Amino acid sequence: MSMFKDMLGAEERLITNEYALDYEFVPKLLPFRENQQKQIVECIKPLLFERNGRNLFVYGAPGMGKTAAARWVLRDLEENTEGVIPIYVNCWQKNTSFKIFLDICEQMGYKFLQNKKTTELFKIIQKDLNTKAAAFVFDEIDKIEDFEFLYTLLNEIYRKSIILITNHKETLADMEDRIKSRLMPESLEFKPYTADETFEILQQRARLSIVEGALNEDTLRLITDSAVKRQDIRTGIHLLRESARIAEDESSKRIDITHTEKAISKLENFQIKKSSDLEEDTRFILGIIKENSDKKIGDIFNAYKTKGGVSAYKTFQRKVEKLSKLGFITAKKTCGKEGNTTILSACKKLTEF
Ligand SMILES: Nc1ncnc2c1ncn2[C@@H]1O[C@H](COP(=O)(O)OP(=O)(O)O)[C@@H](O)[C@H]1O
Ligand SMILES: [Mg+2]
Repeated sequence: MSMFKDMLGAEERLITNEYALDYEFVPKLLPFRENQQKQIVECIKPLLFERNGRNLFVYGAPGMGKTAAARWVLRDLEENTEGVIPIYVNCWQKNTSFKIFLDICEQMGYKFLQNKKTTELFKIIQKDLNTKAAAFVFDEIDKIEDFEFLYTLLNEIYRKSIILITNHKETLADMEDRIKSRLMPESLEFKPYTADETFEILQQRARLSIVEGALNEDTLRLITDSAVKRQDIRTGIHLLRESARIAEDESSKRIDITHTEKAISKLENFQIKKSSDLEEDTRFILGIIKENSDKKIGDIFNAYKTKGGVSAYKTFQRKVEKLSKLGFITAKKTCGKEGNTTILSACKKLTEF
């Protein structure tokens, strides 16, 4: 028995693939979601045979694999078929018709889109897509501010499948009748994973990202329990990554229960809230940061004031700090020509926690 043998070398790491521990990573295999993937495929399939596609309303709590399943099908469509353009838009980031059309134009490879209006952008999309067919996925559709884009697509694009994804079942009932009556979607629910399913998904993720043999079964069970308790696989992925990092920091060759216990206690001290739990002005500030992501704090404060914000700069700064601590935004200090400033960026992933 040697204590030195168990130490990780300076250049050694336990995490072999950092990207596979990102929430946006879409694994090659999505166990336990085959039926849901099949239903998404069935909606899109008619487009491959010159017919019109069907529309789908996907709902279920966060971390149920909705985004992963939809992206998996779009990737499959892109890699293995011809003639149907896959379009994925996250409506948390692109929450107006203008931003959505701009994003679609960019995805279709168009450049020089500055100064174009919403209707002009749509003309470009229409001209191109009406010679083909398109499979649209609008993820987090409940975050959208205006549904005009959906009405336009429903009316003016001939061959399409529209898939809407949300965490809230009521989103569909709350939509305007003129949209609902045109959309007429099938419904698809993503139900929570069982404890065994969660264990298997996390085990598979660990195999993709962590040195073989470094994670024992008991530790993975503890991580699984935490994810099951919170009913969110993302918690499990977060704990995998954090446990591995804590073990690396301690130069340990193995991730054991004590590392995961530390990661869990960090998670509890730092419980990431839903944006709806934030106090009103702080939520308002988060909205302004989202609209002005990657800009300087001073400019964002000005935008906040222009939009009717009432807090003084000091209070604003304190609230920004809180948003950063809670993981809603990142605040990066930079030194530029005009002196030091802080750049604020909205983080999509953590707000879904
Ligand atoms: N069945 C599954 N197999 C493998 N990974 C999964 C599965 N379901 C979810 N995941 C992973 O869990 C995380 C959360 O899934 P996601 O699709 O973003 O959830 P949702 O969109 O329902 O909130 C992602 O990193 C995803 O890759
Ligand atoms: Mg999602």
